Amino acid sequence: MNKSQSWIDRGLAHVAKTYGRYPLVAASGQGCWLTDIDGKKYLDFLAGVAVNNLGHCHPKIVAALQDQAGKLLHCSNYFHIPQQIELAEILCEHSFADRVFFCNSGAEANEAALKLVRKYSADTYGDNRFEIITAQESFHGRTLATISATGQDKIQAGFAPLIPGFKYVPFGDIQALKAAINPKTCAIMLEPIQGEGGVNIPPQGYLQAVRELCDQQELLLIFDEVQVGLGRTGKLFAYQHDNIEPDVMTLAKALAAGPPIGAMLAREKYAAALGPGTHGSTFGGNPLLAAAGIAAMKVLLEEHILDNCVAMGDYLKLQLEQLQNKYSFIKNVRGRGLILGMELTIEGAEIVKTALDRGLLINCTVGKVLRFVPPLIVTQKEIDLMIEILDGIFKEL
Ligand SMILES: Cc1ncc(COP(=O)(O)O)c(C=O)c1O
Repeated sequence: MNKSQSWIDRGLAHVAKTYGRYPLVAASGQGCWLTDIDGKKYLDFLAGVAVNNLGHCHPKIVAALQDQAGKLLHCSNYFHIPQQIELAEILCEHSFADRVFFCNSGAEANEAALKLVRKYSADTYGDNRFEIITAQESFHGRTLATISATGQDKIQAGFAPLIPGFKYVPFGDIQALKAAINPKTCAIMLEPIQGEGGVNIPPQGYLQAVRELCDQQELLLIFDEVQVGLGRTGKLFAYQHDNIEPDVMTLAKALAAGPPIGAMLAREKYAAALGPGTHGSTFGGNPLLAAAGIAAMKVLLEEHILDNCVAMGDYLKLQLEQLQNKYSFIKNVRGRGLILGMELTIEGAEIVKTALDRGLLINCTVGKVLRFVPPLIVTQKEIDLMIEILDGIFKEL
């Protein structure tokens, strides 16, 4: 028996069954390549689902972790934490926000955002203005509040009663959004591009129209940039493509380019609603993870990562479109920067499995959309190799 199989068997015995896992046992990674426990190498166009944006084990992230690990691993948020302060400064300097609440995941960042908008609304308008409108096919996390915010039946099934006060509208439909607003509405929460929902891009002008609507009706606008923030679309934040700003934004995934950290960013006016004792997290903004976050932000901002994302995103899209010209089962190719989706007329699961056998990691969302979210440092050569593998698979279908 190879080493992988023996780990898989051990995992089946004791690890929770919450994931349908592929038979890959990860051992190490470098750049865009992941190596399994038996030494097989995989070209990684999944990047831990848009987490490893700087590639696996970026030397500056590893060095920041090693350095900080020798100084201080953890310190309570009862005290001031320099690394957390510095990371908050960097995030505020480069975004619309004035304040940052740190946590450990995307779901927690969204929980913080949901609590903030409700608290601000309760403080400002009284108790009966708590509804939050989100989009169908959205994805905001797996906690009870964030599945309540997520507009997908399959994510919510079996967990009733959900948290009340959420309404769902079709993504990209401004009239439907207008119609859903009522005196109880306090906020609108959207992903600027829906990731898990199938790489869905809203129509041109939609996000600006949502911003205007929020201004007219005194509603807070939350952008969940957990997947598309931090350079993934070719700009630091996806909202920057539309020349608008949200009031609240959530980040996680790539914030420390590997280690787990989340953040909820807000304008001062709204952030003030969460005063001492209203929210918290033991590990949130912990020195170790914040140090990695600082290192990741510096690499992202100072080493032309966004330029590479734009150039390689354009190149990858073109290559995927050429495949579309060749194969009739490819319906369309969409996305921005290095979050690209290829919608098929057929199920994608078998393609993903065959790709894995051939040393390529991709994934499939909503059954028929292949999703490509490689590290933002991906090279043309790596894209060419990915396309060669994919073309080989498509030829045999
Ligand atoms: C847009 C979006 N929001 C929230 C989440 C949840 O993040 P986490 O899994 O870190 O809780 C995800 C995860 O895929 C996501 O894509």
